Amino acid sequence: MMDAKAELLNGPPPGAAADWTIPQDWAAYTPGEHAMWDKLFARQAAMLPDRVTPAFMKGLDVLRLSKPGVPDFEELSERLQKLTGWSVVAVPGLVPDDVFFEHMANRRFVAGRFIRKPEQIDYLQEPDVFHDVFGHVPLLADPVFADYMQAYGEGGLRSLKFGALHKLARLYWYTVEFGLIREEGRLHLYGAGIVSSYGESIFALDDPSPNRVGFDLKRVMRTNYKIDDYQQTYFVIDSFEDLLRQTLETDFAPLYRELETAPDLAPDALEEGDRIFTAGAQEYARSKAKLG
Ligand SMILES: [Fe+2]
Repeated sequence: MMDAKAELLNGPPPGAAADWTIPQDWAAYTPGEHAMWDKLFARQAAMLPDRVTPAFMKGLDVLRLSKPGVPDFEELSERLQKLTGWSVVAVPGLVPDDVFFEHMANRRFVAGRFIRKPEQIDYLQEPDVFHDVFGHVPLLADPVFADYMQAYGEGGLRSLKFGALHKLARLYWYTVEFGLIREEGRLHLYGAGIVSSYGESIFALDDPSPNRVGFDLKRVMRTNYKIDDYQQTYFVIDSFEDLLRQTLETDFAPLYRELETAPDLAPDALEEGDRIFTAGAQEYARSKAKLG
C-alpha cells in the first residue's frame, strides 16, 4: 500500500529493513486470526466463481497452501516466483511512494501482515493481509497482469519526477483496485478492492447505481475517486493484454503536461465519448449523502 503521509517519515521504523520490509512472523498468528482468514476466504471463494475473471480463479490456486489460515509469505513467494517471478514481502503498514514503486518495479508486492478484527469483517479502511494477499496475489500469477504491475511500478517511479503521482494513482485505483473486465460477452470483476469485499463484489457488478464505462487511459487519469465507499464509476477493460499495451505505448511525459490543464472529472461524471455500459442511477451515493 502507498500513502503520501508516509513520506513525512524520515526512514523505516525500528525493526524494519532499509527497504521497509519486516519479517511476516507467521508463527505469531493466533488461531483466531487464522480462523478469520479461513472465514473470509471461504465466503469470497464461494461467491466469486461466476463473477470474477477466470484468471483470478486460476491464480487462487497459488494461495491454496500446505498450512491452514493466513498464507506464509515465504511459501507463497516460492510458488509465485516459479510462475511469474513475483514475491510477496511484509511491510509495517504505510510505506513511502518511492519505496512502494521500487518494490513493484522489481516484482515484489508489499503486503500488510495484520488481519482485521471480527467487528471489521465487512469494512476496514487500512488494507489488511486478506485484502493484500487474497485481493492482489492471484492475478500476480497471471503473466500479462504480472507484467502490467511491474510496468506500473516503473511508471510510478517516473511519475514522481514529474510531480504527477496523484494522476497516475488514479490508474492504479481504477484498474488494480477497482477494475472490471469484459470477457465472454459480459462484465467480470478483477480489482483487488472489489474481490476482497463481499459487498462490493455484488455492488460493482449488479447494482444499478454506479456507472460502468469503457477504459480509456486519459479519461481515467482525469477522474477523482472515492476512497472510503463503493465507487461511483467502474472502468471496464477489454483484456489484460490491452491494458498492458495501452500503458506501455503511452508516452506519459506529454500526457502529464496535458493533464495539468485538463479539468478533473467528478467520480460520477459521464463524459462525451465515454463507452457506456451502464449510466448509473447513483441512488446508492445519493442515499449515503443524505445520511451523511
Ligand atoms: Fe490494494
